[in-house]
Amino acid sequence: MTSAPAKPEVAAIVVAAGSGIRLGREIPKAAIEIAGVPMVTRSVQAMFSGGVDKAVVVAPEAWVERFSHFFPAYPDRVKVISGGVMRQDSVRLGLVHMGDADIVLVHDAARPLVPPFVVDRVIEAVRDGAPVVIPVVPQVDSLRRIRRNWTVAVDRSTFLRVQTPQGFEAQVLRRAHAQAGDKEFTDDATMCEAIGMPVMTVPGDGLAFKITDPMDLVLAEVIARGES
Ligand code: C5P
Repeated sequence: MTSAPAKPEVAAIVVAAGSGIRLGREIPKAAIEIAGVPMVTRSVQAMFSGGVDKAVVVAPEAWVERFSHFFPAYPDRVKVISGGVMRQDSVRLGLVHMGDADIVLVHDAARPLVPPFVVDRVIEAVRDGAPVVIPVVPQVDSLRRIRRNWTVAVDRSTFLRVQTPQGFEAQVLRRAHAQAGDKEFTDDATMCEAIGMPVMTVPGDGLAFKITDPMDLVLAEVIARGES
């Protein structure tokens, strides 16, 4: 008798070690509540609803203890660790503490309203054989390139906006981080591309927007209240 192959285990690294400076807050951005629930809690919930098995949350050093109380619904599935100076340092530390998994997702805690179907889409694309997967949305504003003291129009249809969670074969992401050295990358897919990996896209969603400015917080609050 042949048994079905085991489903690969999926881990998520939820990076939440950034400050709240741009939002003008004293507390870290990921700890800010959206309709009564911390941003990082919403992000972790979305990962689990989308098919993730376990998560490492990377928190600001002074906030690890506080963050560890943010996930009472998942006492055995969430590990909270201390982050690094740059986002990529936080992801690297997450990889160290992640343990074994075949598939790893890296998600910005600052995208708390990401729909679980986007998470599922990313996981399925990696499961189907893509080593690196990113959710994308079209660029809706016109774009211009800066040329010294002038600007020139560019064709916006050739650009895509990249969201998270980004999905990876775990060993590919580990290799990319091992070879990154001191070079700075804005996301993990770009780091994987630098070691020659193809990057596949899946449709993202407007709700996966990143909370950056105070206005984003207002928008998230209104959306979250409407859903509850
Ligand atoms: O600053 P920005 O919003 O682009 O950060 C994206 C995500 O990376 C956020 O969720 C933030 O908490 C996280 N981050 C991190 N460690 C850093 C810097 C940012 O985990 N050193």
